[in-house]
Amino acid sequence: MQRPPVLINGEMVDGASAAVSVFDIGFQRGYGCFEAMRSYGGKPFRIDHHLERLATSAANLQIDIGSVERIKQWCLSVAEPGDGVVRVFVTGGTDIKHPGTNSSIIVFMEPLPEMPDVFTLDIVEAPWHPDGRVSELTGAKTLSYGPNLAATISARSRGFDDAALVGVSGTVLEGPTFSLGWVKSDVVFTPSLDVNILESVTRTAVLEVADSNGIEVHEGSFPVADLLAADEVFVLSTVREVSPVVRVATTEFLPGPVTARLRAGFIELVRAE
Ligand SMILES: Cc1ncc(COP(=O)(O)O)c(C=O)c1O
Repeated sequence: MQRPPVLINGEMVDGASAAVSVFDIGFQRGYGCFEAMRSYGGKPFRIDHHLERLATSAANLQIDIGSVERIKQWCLSVAEPGDGVVRVFVTGGTDIKHPGTNSSIIVFMEPLPEMPDVFTLDIVEAPWHPDGRVSELTGAKTLSYGPNLAATISARSRGFDDAALVGVSGTVLEGPTFSLGWVKSDVVFTPSLDVNILESVTRTAVLEVADSNGIEVHEGSFPVADLLAADEVFVLSTVREVSPVVRVATTEFLPGPVTARLRAGFIELVRAE
């Protein structure tokens, strides 16, 4: 497989041989954080929002990432060739007694992964999700994505593209790597940040699109029954942008007009910025 060149702490390394230490607690314990931003024509969309989130993640984990401006310059330099996903990983470093003191910061751009145009989601219970409870990790996009990945794999094993996560309280949360929204009687519903979903950059941008298009939005804590009773369902993420969902568990949906308006508005926003 062709690998892109990789910046490790600002030094360009050949992708095929780029490596971090097996003693790094990012690898050993999943202690670290990451970001994924989309480069459109060489310009990462909302890079500052992504890097603010990275800084929050690192601060919550007490990892010193130094100057965010320096990381920004690394991201801009790898994004230059054009379209793709710029990935930033911050490891916990190799000093288990002082986590976060000698982190590796890894930056590279990959081609966009292949994605379906429309999604099928199975409902997967996520007892590990904070679901409104607050901890040191609230708001952090950490390297500990094992439970998210396991939810995706479990949904895929049943023939779905991915999972819609539901918390112990029965609340609809998010996908393992995306946010969720749905439409009922022309009103958009989306789980609020209070249920401790990730503060998605795409979700924030799409809420702005809804606002400027006069589309009513309700953010809150909603049961699965509300999601299943929707007229339209959609996913939101850096890679997926705004994409329709055509099945949740056994309930089918058609891609609808409100999702199409949000998608078009989002693409226009990307173009304008
Ligand atoms: C758990 C989770 N929710 C939502 C998202 C969507 O966030 P963004 O729009 O910033 O890509 C992601 C992105 O990876 C995620 O991991």
